[in-house]
Amino acid sequence: MQPRFLIGAIIALLVIPALATASDDIDGKALYAKSCATCHGANGEPTEMGKSLKPFPARKHRAIANLVGRDELRRIITYGVEGTAMTPKKYTLDPLEIEAVIDYIQTFDYKPDLANGKNRFKAVCSSCHGMDGRAQTGVGAKNLVYSKLDLGGIVHTMRYGRPGTLMTSKRHQLSNPDIADIANYVYSLRYLANPAEGKKLYAKSCVSCHTSPAAIKLIGNAAEKRTVADLDDRLLDLRIRHGRHVDRAGEKVAHLSDDNIQDLIAYIRYEVK
Ligand code: HEC
Ligand code: HEC
Ligand code: HEC
Repeated sequence: MQPRFLIGAIIALLVIPALATASDDIDGKALYAKSCATCHGANGEPTEMGKSLKPFPARKHRAIANLVGRDELRRIITYGVEGTAMTPKKYTLDPLEIEAVIDYIQTFDYKPDLANGKNRFKAVCSSCHGMDGRAQTGVGAKNLVYSKLDLGGIVHTMRYGRPGTLMTSKRHQLSNPDIADIANYVYSLRYLANPAEGKKLYAKSCVSCHTSPAAIKLIGNAAEKRTVADLDDRLLDLRIRHGRHVDRAGEKVAHLSDDNIQDLIAYIRYEVK
């Protein structure tokens, strides 16, 4: 090891534990009261002044404090949001103080209102995702019921959108409580695939030609190097229910529903890792 590295490593070892304990001593609540509460409110509910800010009002922390990742909170607090009253705080708070403020923000809790989430989903999302969240409409919207995103991932997608697609950022269209409520509602629609059901379906519809999921041979490019585990869910579905496989396997696969396919995939993934 280079001497410079060694010194660096020793310093890091000395400093890191010191940092960890130092942030415990900093009163995040007091810092928040001093630097943030004028706009965001002492308990994360924006003040009248905060609500009147232009071009965008201060947002409710309470609703999303635990749905937004720590990295993201740190980035927003440190660098601010350009063009808004949320100025960078790196000039007034040191990095440890920012960590302490985040710790405090994350003590805010929020109880989602699923009924509101459902109403807002119908108003804002269903045109592309369908009333039941299952639509894969022509615009490329995804079936949310089969999404693999966790709650934080759904919130992140709603906040920032997916550049280059019709899934635009909803951050200024929706309040934070609406975002939290809709995300929880979307999450509640999730279809929980059942590998045991998949196993039964496999025995009925597939085993006559493929003795087990591990025995399924792929065709096409680099097929010999890959297994079904290398195919993502969408591709597996396409390979099973569409194209020439339907001609080969016929009515054994033609009748399978979307949910059947999810169960089958869960079983296949369980067998072939
Ligand atoms: C002068 C008013 C003001 C102060 C003081 C202020 N903020 Fe903000 N903050 C805002 C505004 C306005 C926004 C919304 C910006 C936007 O819409 O993009 C915001 C947004 C945020 C967001 C993003 C919220 C979201 O839902 O995306 C976080 C996190 C945040 N502030 C944290 C803090 C913290 C922590 C402090 C104190 C260290 C602080 N703010 C101080 C006005 C303020
Ligand atoms: C104008 C059409 C449109 C509207 C309205 C819309 N979306 Fe989307 N959404 C899309 C498209 C297109 C994608 C696929 C983006 C991609 O390819 O990554 C998508 C993807 C998503 C994803 C990612 C799913 C995954 O598994 O990757 C989530 C979550 C999502 N939308 C939630 C919502 C919510 C919640 C709303 C309402 C607040 C909403 N969308 C409104 C078009 C829309
Ligand atoms: C009647 C026979 C038959 C049945 C039943 C059958 N398959 Fe196949 N399957 C084939 C043949 C033949 C291939 C080889 C590829 C080809 O020629 O399309 C294949 C290929 C595949 C592939 C790989 C496709 C590719 O493009 O690489 C998958 C995945 C697959 N089958 C899954 C299933 C599943 C899951 C079932 C049950 C729901 C099933 N198969 C039922 C005959 C069958």
